[in-house]
Amino acid sequence: MKMILIGPPGAGKGTQAKRLIDRLQVPQISTGDMFRAAVGQGSPMGLKAKGYMDKGQLIPDDVVIGVVKERLTKPDCKKGFILDGFPRTIEQAKALDKILDEIGALDHVVVIGVPDDYLVERLTGRRTCKGCNYMHHIKFDPPKKDGVCDKCGGILYQRDDDQEVTIRGRLTTYHGQTSPLIDYYSGKGIVRKIDGTGSMEAVAGSIAKAIGA
Ligand code: AP5
Ligand code: ZN
Repeated sequence: MKMILIGPPGAGKGTQAKRLIDRLQVPQISTGDMFRAAVGQGSPMGLKAKGYMDKGQLIPDDVVIGVVKERLTKPDCKKGFILDGFPRTIEQAKALDKILDEIGALDHVVVIGVPDDYLVERLTGRRTCKGCNYMHHIKFDPPKKDGVCDKCGGILYQRDDDQEVTIRGRLTTYHGQTSPLIDYYSGKGIVRKIDGTGSMEAVAGSIAKAIGA
């Protein structure tokens, strides 16, 4: 199972990917998580990435493509993968096509559609776990204990880029650079458009139906 999740910031890509990996037994490859880990480690790549992330801009294609190429060669990707947040530009999609020429074609491009109006509330209310990366939401998925992850007991934090001004920048970036990918993949007959405005369970059900899982 090789699939891509596309959607604006806060659409629920990470939330849905985490549900799918248990069922499909393939890894979630989130470029956002990978770069946040690099930022946390203070590596040179992390320092460079942070400047773009804090402004809601995309990290340069050559850096992102290099990281994903390396990740896809790992043994756990042999059975497939869920790409969450990659590709995000036509250039990245073309680079992925070259990799797929060698490892086999994509099965699904799942596009989670959510209007911008919903997304600011979703993102300003998100609280991410430092331990396991699970995403709670103060209103839609509140933790039992304030500031503590239900899944692993880790500390919850607010992402630096989840401030309203940065969120607006990320939305502009999405509409300008990433949404053209929907047309890019449309010709291949593998795009599954999902209404992402319902509950997390409703969205999970729509995705399962669309991919036959
Ligand atoms: P990245 O980490 O990929 O962020 P993003 O695409 O902006 O997406 P998010 O993680 O914010 O949202 P999501 O769709 O996963 O939503 P979630 O499930 O958490 O990228 C961050 C930055 O890294 C980029 O800006 C860029 O700088 C850089 N980057 C990453 N990849 C790159 C690439 N390929 N190229 C270049 N640069 C790259 O849900 C959000 C909240 O809503 C949660 O609290 C959740 O609980 C809640 N929620 C989810 N679903 C629902 C629902 N159905 N109803 C109610 N609440 C819900
Ligand atoms: Zn946790």
